[in-house]
Amino acid sequence: MTDAIVAEGLTKRFGAVTALDGVSFTVEEGTVMGLLGPNGAGKTTSVQVLTTLQRADSGRATVAGFDVVADADRVRERIGLSGQYAAVDEHLTARENLDMVGRLYHLGRAGSRKRADELLERFDLAEAADRPVKGYSGGMRRRVDLACALVARPSVLFLDEPTTGLDPRSRIAMWEVISELVASGSTLLLTTQYLEEADQLADRIAVIDHGRVIAEGTSDELKDRLDGERLEFTVGRTEDLVTARAALVPLAKGEIVVDEKALRLTVPVTDGSDALLAGVRVLDGAGLRLRDAGLRRPTLDEVFLTLTGTPVEDAPPVDTREKELL
Ligand SMILES: Nc1ncnc2c1ncn2[C@@H]1O[C@H](COP(=O)(O)OP(=O)(O)OP(=O)(O)O)[C@@H](O)[C@H]1O
Ligand SMILES: [Mg+2]
Repeated sequence: MTDAIVAEGLTKRFGAVTALDGVSFTVEEGTVMGLLGPNGAGKTTSVQVLTTLQRADSGRATVAGFDVVADADRVRERIGLSGQYAAVDEHLTARENLDMVGRLYHLGRAGSRKRADELLERFDLAEAADRPVKGYSGGMRRRVDLACALVARPSVLFLDEPTTGLDPRSRIAMWEVISELVASGSTLLLTTQYLEEADQLADRIAVIDHGRVIAEGTSDELKDRLDGERLEFTVGRTEDLVTARAALVPLAKGEIVVDEKALRLTVPVTDGSDALLAGVRVLDGAGLRLRDAGLRRPTLDEVFLTLTGTPVEDAPPVDTREKELL
């Protein structure tokens, strides 16, 4: 397997601020990496270094096999970037913007036009396509910007908070296009503050905080680090709680919590789905009828809280600059 993106010990300071403090990670070709972190974590700076827009103070990085400093031109030919703030030409129409990018990437007149049509359709911009972008809403600009990043079918795509400000429909449309690209062998690095999004769409997640990658792995691996799986059983009657608790003790890896009002028992376990089956069996064996039984794994929010000590909710979900736009 080849790594499409390699970051090794990247550091970057802006005056007194250390934006990157030794960021390292790799992204295998044809996979999606989610860079997840709160405001100011260093996500955009990482993307900028990898896309040759900023130079790191130390460390090295390669993208599509080329060094981002020594071979910056070749890197640029192979990547697509949609920055955190839409960077389209306001005075041009969406079609003109896309067409211009197509020409820049040497798709030719007919090729550029065809690709522009496809993307306008795809991002639901066909109707507005011939109006100047300056009259667009924030979400529409975002879609034009994303479409521009996709014109050349780049082999490595960087999307900095791509779905911030998109409505659900545009979000789905975007993910359709992205999935196609990834299926055709492209590699994607996306930054996000949407934990759900990283959870669902990224093959691997790197959690970044204060310029450092503090955890990396699949969503499941990160959840496992918390050791926080719980079985939840809801019984039919208050008097069942005692019987159920006694039956479940051998399975529990910690204290069983009994909520008398909700008629619910919460049992910490380590081997998730096996434990759930075993739990249902012992309760059935004890003659109890269950109203509900389930396995609860920690959410990425909880993972984040455990890893960083900062709840994600503390961070404003949308940058103020972007809010004005929307
Ligand atoms: N050009 C710059 N000049 C000075 N400081 C900067 C500059 N760019 C970034 N920083 C600082 O570096 C740190 C990392 O910023 P960065 O934009 O990479 O964070 P981020 O994870 O993208 O945050 P957000 O979620 O808000 O977009 C922040 O403290 C930021 O203020
Ligand atoms: Mg950012």
